[in-house]
Amino acid sequence: MISKRLADKINEQLNFELESGYIYKGMEAFFGNEGLTGFQHFMKLQAEEEYAHHDKFANFLYETGNKVEYTAIPEVKNEYKCPKEVMQVAYEHEQEVTKRIKELYEIALEEKDYVALTTLDWFLHEQIEEEDTFRGIMDRFALLGEANTTLYWIDKELGHRE
Ligand code: FEO
Repeated sequence: MISKRLADKINEQLNFELESGYIYKGMEAFFGNEGLTGFQHFMKLQAEEEYAHHDKFANFLYETGNKVEYTAIPEVKNEYKCPKEVMQVAYEHEQEVTKRIKELYEIALEEKDYVALTTLDWFLHEQIEEEDTFRGIMDRFALLGEANTTLYWIDKELGHRE
């Protein structure tokens, strides 16, 4: 059994994972509407990852005898200035997720909750990958600019995400 304080914070985070997925669905729609099918595919998979993160947190609560409760998800943004802006927003969003996972980790540490720490450990590692993915795309924009040829090549590359 984990503390109510930690269970509540994890419940908050699983709702935030759904919110993250929804944000990425909005980005997927933006790219789909722009005809950038590689970016669109990439964001579709990104949203699915967030839903998988939600599932992992929800299962953790169920398996430790806690309740899962859903809250309202804020309205999602569908319009962006350009593809680079979308990726910048996504990168900053992932940094926010990392901050939140670290806060959960600190609570679990404080409470010496070694069971919760093992799950949170997985999420900390996952966040290294999540941030690195978006930083990598921002690096390409920094290196190549935002010309149509750049978009073409990045779109092609992102379309191969598995
Ligand atoms: Fe659930 Fe992208 O972190």
